[in-house]
Amino acid sequence: MTKTEKAFAQKIQSRKAQIAVIGLGYVGLPLAVVFAQKGYRVVGIDTNGQRIDCVNQGKSYIGDVPTAELAAIVRQGRLRATTDTKVLRDVDVVIVCVPTPLNRVKDPDISFIVEATNSIHGTLHAGELIILESTTYPGTTDEVILPALEKSGLKVGEDFYLCFSPERIDPGNRDFKTQNIPKVVGGITPACSRLAGLLYRQITPSVVRVSSSRTAEMTKLLENTFRIVNIGLMNELAQAAGSLNVDIWEAIDAAKTKPFGYMPFYPGPGIGGHCIGVDPIYLSWKARMHGSSLHFIELARRVNAEMPRYVVNRSVHVLNRYSGKAISRSKVLVLGITYKRDVEDTRESPALEILSELKALGAEISYHDPMVPEIRHEGIHLISQPLTAAFLKKQDLVILVTDHSTVNYKRVLAASRLIFDTRNKLSKFKSSKIVRL
Ligand SMILES: NC(=O)c1ccc[n+]([C@@H]2O[C@H](COP(=O)([O-])OP(=O)(O)OC[C@H]3O[C@@H](n4cnc5c(N)ncnc54)[C@H](O)[C@@H]3O)[C@@H](O)[C@H]2O)c1
Repeated sequence: MTKTEKAFAQKIQSRKAQIAVIGLGYVGLPLAVVFAQKGYRVVGIDTNGQRIDCVNQGKSYIGDVPTAELAAIVRQGRLRATTDTKVLRDVDVVIVCVPTPLNRVKDPDISFIVEATNSIHGTLHAGELIILESTTYPGTTDEVILPALEKSGLKVGEDFYLCFSPERIDPGNRDFKTQNIPKVVGGITPACSRLAGLLYRQITPSVVRVSSSRTAEMTKLLENTFRIVNIGLMNELAQAAGSLNVDIWEAIDAAKTKPFGYMPFYPGPGIGGHCIGVDPIYLSWKARMHGSSLHFIELARRVNAEMPRYVVNRSVHVLNRYSGKAISRSKVLVLGITYKRDVEDTRESPALEILSELKALGAEISYHDPMVPEIRHEGIHLISQPLTAAFLKKQDLVILVTDHSTVNYKRVLAASRLIFDTRNKLSKFKSSKIVRL
């Protein structure tokens, strides 16, 4: 261990290291808060001035970060936020949590990472640790960030340290948060991994060091590819089970009693958010550049993308069969429109496509979502309707798309005429009004 590394380790352990988090979204804000709560001085940087104002006023805009907790650390001077990247001159650690979306032709768009790297390069100084947490393809840290930073003349592993450590949080998950999810760390050099590992051990009990930044990048994509493929498999099996007159949910419940060799995944109305649907494309894009085609990812994407239309087609049949009504003369309420339960995020949510398709078929559409008061999507502008018995009674069909835990499903069932449950949320109720995916 060199003198520089020892001094840095000392700074981390004594909580004297100053930390900057670039990108204060679903990933960056909770992380900044946790480090501040553990006694570090943290500065958050974001290009969105509104978010900066909110943080500095101690107001949270992320469901998983309680306003009271944010306000307390802001009051104590442990966390502040700014749009000014010059503050990077004075920090010891920079953690990058910017978005990694797809571009118009559905290829990876790492422009936010490049922009953040430019800011870091402008102020890079000896004895600084840079960590990328944004999900990205293997090679981003060593092919894109490293050469840009070494233009400064400083040497990685000696003058500064560079790592990739994937963020694994699951917004809305009450059991697993930043503090109890093991952190994977892969550095450009062993010293980079050691220091980043030491830093994360201050906020999480378990750090897994891998041999390179590429392996760490791959780990995250492996996790999300595993999910997209298994969800796709379940969605395909659910459609087949329907035509075989088998209840897929019952079969899954039975299969998961096997104590080894099986892990349950569930079908649903389609995938959304910006992780499961996006991250595997980062991997298939990069693999394609190296001559490999990732067929499983492509197939799973296609099957999952068909689900919203499948849900609408089934709804047409359900209405016909159980109430003798055409969709074009029906009132349909979509219950839950976020991409998954207990988050306020509607990005890429299958519910939006379901609403568009229903509207195109002439249905009179409405929605209820306790987390989303209003939506605008492809010419649709709707306000969340209150879930009153009077309103539910007027609906020909309720499609349960997102199973938020705050909804009183017993009351919904009692007042509704017909429910198409795409999440098996109503499994404990026995009623001829319920049709399951
Ligand atoms: N949200 C999740 O559940 C989740 C989980 C694991 C990993 N990830 C990954 O983490 C990364 C961040 O995701 P997120 O959900 O927090 O995104 P987000 O959109 O919620 O937040 C990103 C923030 O970065 C800011 N930003 C963009 N460019 C910037 C720049 N150059 N400088 C400063 N700020 C900038 C944006 O204004 C925004 O506030 C992505 O790569 C994502 O794939 C997300």
